Amino acid sequence: MPDKGAKPRHIAIVMDGNGRWAKKRFLPRFFGHKAGVDSLVRVVQACIDRNVEQLTVFAFSSENWKRPSDEVSGLMGLVLAAVSKYLARMGAMGVQIRIVGDRDAVSDKLRKAWNEAERVTAHNHKLVLNVAFNYGGRWDIVQACRKAIAAGVPAESLTESRLNEFMAMSHAPDPDLFIRTGGEVRISNFLLWQAAYTEFVFSDCLWPDFGEKELDAAIAAYRERDRRFGGVKAEEPQPC
Ligand code: FPP
Repeated sequence: MPDKGAKPRHIAIVMDGNGRWAKKRFLPRFFGHKAGVDSLVRVVQACIDRNVEQLTVFAFSSENWKRPSDEVSGLMGLVLAAVSKYLARMGAMGVQIRIVGDRDAVSDKLRKAWNEAERVTAHNHKLVLNVAFNYGGRWDIVQACRKAIAAGVPAESLTESRLNEFMAMSHAPDPDLFIRTGGEVRISNFLLWQAAYTEFVFSDCLWPDFGEKELDAAIAAYRERDRRFGGVKAEEPQPC
């Protein structure tokens, strides 16, 4: 269990506010997402510099398909372009890329790009970048249950830790710190299972403006928290 004051090993981020960032500049929303990719690259480097081990970002939720079709196709194209633009750089930075989410619904081209990004960065260990794409926390719980049933796990041996083995983020410790930018104060179906004891920091900063200063502020707020995981402080009197 991490002590108070310890640095977060795993940070999860809802990168919200791209659309408003663009609107403020009288630009189409796409340009906010484009600036959001650059912000992500900066934050990846900042996490490496701060010895963060895992960074998990919400790039496209199961519910984002409800957006106008031109925004959805713009985002898909942007992600494909970002993979080809930044893959070599991410590799050189020591980033291991993992995609978490339902790949069945994305185009063959994007699925191939994801597979390639995972393959060529699999040996990297500076930072694991988990990109949640076509991901939803409820989807994750359901797919884990289905996998457990398909694997023949008897109901009586299905414990929390056994089910966790089937979750999309089973390779990572639960997030210590969950940051949401853009001023909204909700979880939006992100990491529902994994965030049971995660500390939340909400920032008004729009994602394209989020950088080292804002990351350090979130980490500092996290380090002030007293994480008890449902227990009590060591110095508190225990009930008889
Ligand atoms: C939320 O802002 C942002 C998204 C739905 C997309 C985030 C995606 C990226 C930053 C690109 C990631 C790219 C890769 C390669 C992983 P919003 O559109 O809801 O903003 P708003 O609340 O201001 O409208």
